[in-house]
Amino acid sequence: MFKNFKSVERCVIGKGAFGQLDEILSKRRNTSEDYIVFIVDKVFENGLTNIKSRVPSKNNDIVIWADVNDHEPTTEQVDEIRDSILAQKKNQLPAGVVGIGGGSVMDIAKATSLMLCNEGSSQLYQGLNLVKKPGVWHCGVPTIAGTGAEVSMTAVLTGPTKKLGLKCDWTIFDQIVLDPELVADVPTDQWFYTGMDSYIHCVESLTGTLNNEFSRAFGEKALILCQEVYMKDGLTQLERDEKLMIASYMGGLSLTYSEVGVCHALSYGLSYVFGYRHGIANCIAFDVLEDYYGSYVDEFRAMIKKHNVTLPKNLAKTWTEAEIQKMVDITIALEHMWNHAVGKDWKQKVTREQIAALFRRM
Ligand SMILES: [Fe+2]
Repeated sequence: MFKNFKSVERCVIGKGAFGQLDEILSKRRNTSEDYIVFIVDKVFENGLTNIKSRVPSKNNDIVIWADVNDHEPTTEQVDEIRDSILAQKKNQLPAGVVGIGGGSVMDIAKATSLMLCNEGSSQLYQGLNLVKKPGVWHCGVPTIAGTGAEVSMTAVLTGPTKKLGLKCDWTIFDQIVLDPELVADVPTDQWFYTGMDSYIHCVESLTGTLNNEFSRAFGEKALILCQEVYMKDGLTQLERDEKLMIASYMGGLSLTYSEVGVCHALSYGLSYVFGYRHGIANCIAFDVLEDYYGSYVDEFRAMIKKHNVTLPKNLAKTWTEAEIQKMVDITIALEHMWNHAVGKDWKQKVTREQIAALFRRM
C-alpha cells in the first residue's frame, strides 16, 4: 500500500514574505465577526526583534504568546489554549489559526486548529488518524529553520503517557510563509541545533530501508544545502538562513515518503525523560551513532567545531538506571523508526542493552 499523502496547499517563499501575511489573512476575514488566532513564540513578546510589531492582528483577533522556552509542547498546553479561545469568543470558531515561531509553536498551532473542532483532551488523539473532524484553516510561519514542522502532517505533543504526534491529513498547514529574514537574531547554538534537525532528517531518510526515488530527490538536495549552510565559507547569514529554510522544507518532504531513524528514536527518549528540546536532543544522540551513521557523524562533529558549539557531554553520569531504562522503553517503542533504520528484522539485531549502552555514552 503506497502512502497517499497530502501537501501544504499554499506556500509563499522569499525574503520579506512575512509582509504578505496580512493580505493572505484578509481573504479569511469575510464578516466583522471573523477573527484570527495568532499563536506566537513568547520570546518575541518583549519586542527584542520587530516580529511583535509586525504581527498583522486586528482588534477582534486573539494573540497568544506560547511559552516553549524550557519544555516541548504538551497536550495540557494545547487543551488550555483551545479552552481559553472558546471561552473568550463564546464558542465561536476563529476564521484561522496562525503559528509564528519554531517547530514547537507550529505544532501547537496545528494541534490547536484540530482541537478547536474535536472534543475532549488532545491526549485522546495522539496517534495516527485518531482525529475525527477537520480543524480550522491554519497557517505556519517559521522563525527558525530545520524542524520541517512547516511541512509535516504531524503535531508532536508530550502527553501524560507518551510523546506522540496528532497525525492525520487535517494536521497539515493550509498555508505556510517562508521568510528567511525572520530567522535573524536567533542565538547561534539554537540556530545550529535546530538546523541540525534538518541535516539529521536527511541522513536518516536517505540511509534507511524505506528510501525511494522521491525521498532521495528531496533528501539529497536538502543535505547539500545543509552542508553549504554549515561548512561553506563566504556566505552571509541571510544566505545561510535562506538555504536552511529550503533545506528544512525539502528535508521534511523527504521524510513524508520515508522515515526518521535511530537518532530520532533516542532523541524522543531524551526529550520525554529529561525534557530536552528536540534539536539539542537530536545532536546529543547523533554524536554517539557512528555505528549507524558513520561518516555523517564525522561531518556533524566538523560542523560543531566550525561553529564553536559546545555540545553537552557526560550527561549519563548523573542519570539513574531507572531513567536510562525509561528512555530505552520510549526508544524501543518507536518501531517504525527502527524498521526503517535497521530493517524488519531489527528485533533480532538490536537489544535493549545495546540501546542502554548508547544512552550511557551521552
Ligand atoms: Fe526532527
